[in-house]
Amino acid sequence: MANKTTYVCSACGAVAKKWSGQCEECGSWDTLQEQTAAEAAPKSLSASTKNVKSNALEFTDFAITGEPPVYRDSGINELDRVLGGGLVRGAAILVGGDPGIGKSTLLMQLVASCANSQLKTAYISGEESTTQLKLRAQRLNVSHAPVDLASATSVRDIITTFDKPNSVDVLIIDSIQTMYVDIIESSPGTITQVRASSFELIRMAKRRGITLFIVGHITKDGQIAGPKVMEHMVDTVLYFEGDRGYNYRILRSIKNRFGGTDEIGVFEMTGKGLQEVKNPSALFMSDTGEPTPGSAILASIEGTRPIMVETQALIADSFMASPRRAVVGWDTNRLAMVLAVIDSRSSLKVAGKEVYLNIAGGLKVNEPAADLAVAAAIISSTLGKALPNKCCFFGELGLSGDLRPVNHTDLRLKEAAKLGFNRAYIPASTKKISTRDIEVVSIKTINELVEMF
Ligand code: TYD
Ligand code: MG
Repeated sequence: MANKTTYVCSACGAVAKKWSGQCEECGSWDTLQEQTAAEAAPKSLSASTKNVKSNALEFTDFAITGEPPVYRDSGINELDRVLGGGLVRGAAILVGGDPGIGKSTLLMQLVASCANSQLKTAYISGEESTTQLKLRAQRLNVSHAPVDLASATSVRDIITTFDKPNSVDVLIIDSIQTMYVDIIESSPGTITQVRASSFELIRMAKRRGITLFIVGHITKDGQIAGPKVMEHMVDTVLYFEGDRGYNYRILRSIKNRFGGTDEIGVFEMTGKGLQEVKNPSALFMSDTGEPTPGSAILASIEGTRPIMVETQALIADSFMASPRRAVVGWDTNRLAMVLAVIDSRSSLKVAGKEVYLNIAGGLKVNEPAADLAVAAAIISSTLGKALPNKCCFFGELGLSGDLRPVNHTDLRLKEAAKLGFNRAYIPASTKKISTRDIEVVSIKTINELVEMF
């Protein structure tokens, strides 16, 4: 059968027959990439009677026969926490993140730590030479660790080296965009190559019980470059994020077949590599002392850990038809909603104003509990009145303007009290508060908050 060329969108994975500048499925520009299928699949299985076996599937039941998954400590607690307990044999983990954020650094520290605790490890880089790797190891102070380093890009070479019993326990591939399978003609980094390379490597990892870490680059809009299908092929997807202007880095899991996905790991980039941050709760507050208008502290929860985060808002008059709204670290649509609710459910008018919102310290906040803190920051900036010192906020805002309770109330209050906060504003409908260390102010509606100023 003749070779057939199709085009695959790297953002959504949609397949098109013709190339075009914009993907028809998801509307992304310049994401269609050529893919050649050597042979088209038969139209229907019943049309072909090749290889017919009557009982081809072997069934089993839920009872675990072999050993349950064992979590092995990697030696980096913040990473183990995000992985759901540690390294699992045969697990494939995709590590995504912007260039220069510290993926290679983290993984090199990981292999060194594993090698020091008697695991066999290898680090394959397609981006750096072995000399560069050695220099980095020296800088990280891990050059004595017995890690096998190699600079390679051919998946065939990698597989022939490691596809044997007890070859390695932990294998790092940095990055998947530099790897190629030699039976495929497209160049490294194309969807076809990324998909084929990951497929081969993951299959080997499963076969040999290797914990495989694959580094994947991120495109400018935050997708792992290459098809979305890569996220489906691996067991765990981790994102390493952070603001270049700050030294803090957050490791977040987006998908995890071996644990929950709401934990984060916090690191600090130093001159000697990444250091774990064990108690990140006070990291994301600025310590300017005097309270300023437009700043409110959110008592946030990341996974099971409370983190106090400063939200900053600036409201300015606008002379444009559609005023600017700029957000850093939060969801733009969520801000639009909070503004609309303040505008229509309280006595304050914010429509037609320019709004800038910033989450301090380069953190990205996702939870709805941030609504109340954001609203407080906006109201404070609009009125030009600072909030009282040492108070914090959390609660979800409904479209009707009423506030709804959020989870982990006690945990948030305890942490706030521990850090010296003396008052917390929370939704009135919150039940069962057992903490006595902090004054709790209940708020029913957004208008009540406005009236309080
Ligand atoms: P790197 O791990 O190469 O990023 P990635 O693999 O995600 O592209 O990290 C590179 C950045 O980290 C680089 O800008 C320098 C900085 N860095 C330090 O600040 N300290 C260190 O000890 C190391 C190794 C890197
Ligand atoms: Mg790198």
